[in-house]
Amino acid sequence: MSTQQDNNFQAIISHAKEYGFVFQSSEIYDGLSAVYDYGPNGSELKKNIRDYWWKSMTQLHENIVGIDAAIFMHPTTWKASGHVDNFSDPMIDNKDSKKRYRVDHLIEGFADELETKGEEQKAREILQHMDALLAKDDYAGLKKLIEDNKIKCAVSGTCNWTDIRQFNLMFDTKLGSVTDEADTIYLRPETAQGIFVNFLNVQKTARMKIPFGIAQTGKAFRNEIVARQFIFRMREFEQMEMQFFVRPGTEGDWYKYWKEARLQWHLSLGIDPSKYRYHDHIKLAHYAKEACDIEFEFPIGFKEVEGIHSRSDFDLTQHQVYSKKKMQYFDADIDEATGKPYGNYIPYVVETSIGLDRMFLLILSNAYHEETINKEDGTTDSRVVLHIPEKIAPNKLAILPLTKKDGLPEIARELMNECKPYFKCFYEEKDAIGKRYRRQDAIGTPFCVTIDHQTKEDNTVTIRYRDSMLQERILLSKVKDLVLEAVM
Ligand code: GAP
Repeated sequence: MSTQQDNNFQAIISHAKEYGFVFQSSEIYDGLSAVYDYGPNGSELKKNIRDYWWKSMTQLHENIVGIDAAIFMHPTTWKASGHVDNFSDPMIDNKDSKKRYRVDHLIEGFADELETKGEEQKAREILQHMDALLAKDDYAGLKKLIEDNKIKCAVSGTCNWTDIRQFNLMFDTKLGSVTDEADTIYLRPETAQGIFVNFLNVQKTARMKIPFGIAQTGKAFRNEIVARQFIFRMREFEQMEMQFFVRPGTEGDWYKYWKEARLQWHLSLGIDPSKYRYHDHIKLAHYAKEACDIEFEFPIGFKEVEGIHSRSDFDLTQHQVYSKKKMQYFDADIDEATGKPYGNYIPYVVETSIGLDRMFLLILSNAYHEETINKEDGTTDSRVVLHIPEKIAPNKLAILPLTKKDGLPEIARELMNECKPYFKCFYEEKDAIGKRYRRQDAIGTPFCVTIDHQTKEDNTVTIRYRDSMLQERILLSKVKDLVLEAVM
């Protein structure tokens, strides 16, 4: 990361704390590594992102329904899904600092440094070499790559590395009151398995016909080793996942469909398309047939925000084997090739999986701007503004009576009562109006309305737009609809 990028990232982290978006967990006890809490503005923004995703999946697609499965699942779930045996990352320890690294992150970090120094070609070659070695699980080759390039530990500064080993990322705990007798269960590392084990319950009770999807949002837990990039990589985080069940043989087309549809969802928030790119996987997860990431240009570089995975019938087949319950679907549609119904089969699955916290970071880092304002008198001023898309901003409208007297607060309160059933409003009487505008800019409120003495005469108010800072007078009676139109 260049110094400029680093400064920008640090500024966003500080801003997130100062304005009640994100706090370190248990901060009074010096925090807990890679665990974060969301404050008043952060929890609103996070909820709005979740709702925007949920609506796009379950309201705008008639063939997608939602569920809310428990975090704890029968331990056999994770044996069947392959997570007990395969959900591990190759790790390497530095013998001097005793610090452990994920091998791919260590090498990627080195490649980032090369890029910053202008050695893009060498960085690309190293990453390609790493991808090829990872695809073959060639740990000796990866260690050699680290040693040949003299990749150092950031703490000790030495190249004194152990061999590479696998490290499982699942957290476990005990179910039951007496620890020795209790069963080991896991905190789910992905929400997807709650969908797979409920496949038949949902298909039957909601009378779904293939192709159809099941969507879910909820917490997931991973004992991440490298966890030092704010809310980008957390140990407790939230996923928004959708499993789309399709007829075998059609998964390639559905994979292309969802790859495009998910990018369009991101762009529907008005974010610059040049900040997005796809990254097709070479090394596939144990369940995947085809897979790609949607990457975004975060202040720490282009990084994954969402994964689209063609998971074949792997998960349902595994659950059928381990549970001994049939996971089949009867397809009554006629196969033109045979003239007969498609009949019984285990559906194939295309998954879309996005991290809610990572999407939050995307919105925050895309929205954060330090701006210089040229004033009419020739002087300049500055402001920090969050250009959060109107639809998901924590507050949609700030209602600001110019003074605390002359009946202005009463008019403002009436407007507040009219609008608050429809969208989140913020009311404030204190401080000069310019100062109040700046505070709203800093938390991303798209509209501010000022009630002044003229309001009493002609029922008009000043509306001020966050992004352009333009102000105009409109009828008080038009405020609610103007905001509603922008945020719906
Ligand atoms: N069910 C598939 C699955 O879990 P994944 O690529 O491991 O796939 C999906 O995770 C998404 O979850 C990622 O694209 C990322 O946005 C988010 N995610 C994964 N690990 C995370 C972590 N430690 N902290 C925050 N978000 C994470």
